[in-house]
Amino acid sequence: MGARVTASSNPLRDPRDRRLPRVPDPCALVVFGVTGDLARKKLIPAVYDLGNRGLLPPGFVLLGFARRDWDVGEFESLARDAAQQHSRTEFREDVWRRIADSLCFLPGSFDDNDAFDALAAKLIELEDSHGIKGNAAFYLSIPPPAFPMVLEQMERTKMADNAERGGWRRVVVEKPFGHDLESARALNTLVDKVFTAKDVFRIDHYLGKETVQNLLALRFANTLFEPIWNSHFVDSIQITMAEDVGIGGRAGFYDNAGAARDVLQNHLLQLLALTAMEEPVSFDAESIRIEKLKALNAISLPDDKSRYAIRGQYDQGWLAGQRVPAYRDEKDVPKDSRTETYAAVRLGVETRRWGGVPFYLRTGKRLPRRVTEIAVVFKRAPHLPFDATDTVELGHNQLVVRVQPDEGVTLRFGSKVPGSAMEVRDVSMDFLYGESFTESSPEAYERLILDVLLGDQTLFPRNEEVDASWRVIDPLEEFWADTEPHSYRAGEWGPAEADEMLALDGRTWRRP
Ligand code: BG6
Repeated sequence: MGARVTASSNPLRDPRDRRLPRVPDPCALVVFGVTGDLARKKLIPAVYDLGNRGLLPPGFVLLGFARRDWDVGEFESLARDAAQQHSRTEFREDVWRRIADSLCFLPGSFDDNDAFDALAAKLIELEDSHGIKGNAAFYLSIPPPAFPMVLEQMERTKMADNAERGGWRRVVVEKPFGHDLESARALNTLVDKVFTAKDVFRIDHYLGKETVQNLLALRFANTLFEPIWNSHFVDSIQITMAEDVGIGGRAGFYDNAGAARDVLQNHLLQLLALTAMEEPVSFDAESIRIEKLKALNAISLPDDKSRYAIRGQYDQGWLAGQRVPAYRDEKDVPKDSRTETYAAVRLGVETRRWGGVPFYLRTGKRLPRRVTEIAVVFKRAPHLPFDATDTVELGHNQLVVRVQPDEGVTLRFGSKVPGSAMEVRDVSMDFLYGESFTESSPEAYERLILDVLLGDQTLFPRNEEVDASWRVIDPLEEFWADTEPHSYRAGEWGPAEADEMLALDGRTWRRP
């Protein structure tokens, strides 16, 4: 007997079917700092891509706010260049025309009360002109020191308050969320004064990456991996985020932050949390948050930080055939800077599942190539019924989630070398996104902006996660405060001390 098609089995009829594209309510996306790098390279192109995919509502407004004496024409030309240069999908004139018609620009600085009064009035005006029904998302694409002032202006003008006018108001806060636990808490208190928790979206763009979400699918949609995803089978975990680029024009921000605050506190600890967490009871924002938070709270730091918490700074060197300067010779970096551009640390996750398994995390700039991956390294078989010489080329089995580039998953295991002798050597089995699917992955910001407009918080770290992450980073920063970073040559895989850290444990870093 054929199965009857019911509302819940027919994806075209079931509104809960997550495969159906969801289009947000009519709304305004207000971007503070719209002329900055992030807006030009990521946010505006992401809005264009959403428009090109038909995922923007008919009553959509992109409202730019920045300290420029511009009219909307000048904003349009910046936005058009940004979309043309950086969008993921093909640039089409008809799509652009629709987006161009949705643009608004308001000039002003963050201490300018009149400018914020004008913005509040504009949002009310847009209810009639564009039918946004009071819905607005405010994107703080601005330097962290400016957060308090903008939030206070929002509170003063009541533009974040929807009690009177209806609709929703959401705020998007870019990382870093504070500089340490104390400042993160102060920032959170401020945000909480103006917005309710369900309306706060803290962006960690790694969570918007398709491959990072796939980690959850890999673990929890299959039967194959979960039974061995624990200390009985896993020897260690290595999480690497390597970049070949230097700091670009971001010395002002980077020299005050360093690698640990810039990416270890957020991207790498989020990857750790997704790798280590227990299965959530369902795939909704709250259930995932609960499990991630438990994992983050279970992190332990090494006792001997001098050996297991290593930071480095790049010296001059060669990359892709080009000579690159030392960090201290980069534009606007103080000659005596002690900021780290590399950090590696051994952490533990003190749960029954992970007790005794080291999590090695590392990140660095000016490393040989751009690669982010999570490698689950398995224990060796307890007994090998071969002659020792048969298995000299057999390493540990590994499951590698390749976050970027070459997005996919690799399984490394031993296989017999063809021939009459018995010899076992490591081989790789690869799943490549590009080969298995015809759809290309959305950009992280494309996915995350859409989720903000839809009000879906699943891929956004919550306040408590930020707190838990700083509790890991603060003691490291405190320890490093009085030390010089080790040096490494640009184009090499970090300082020798980071290799020694693994050697002490009888291990080596993977060469991705
Ligand atoms: C940002 C960091 O969060 O991530 C940058 O501030 C870093 O320093 C960037 O370069 C890397 O992002 P991606 O997506 O290119 O890996």
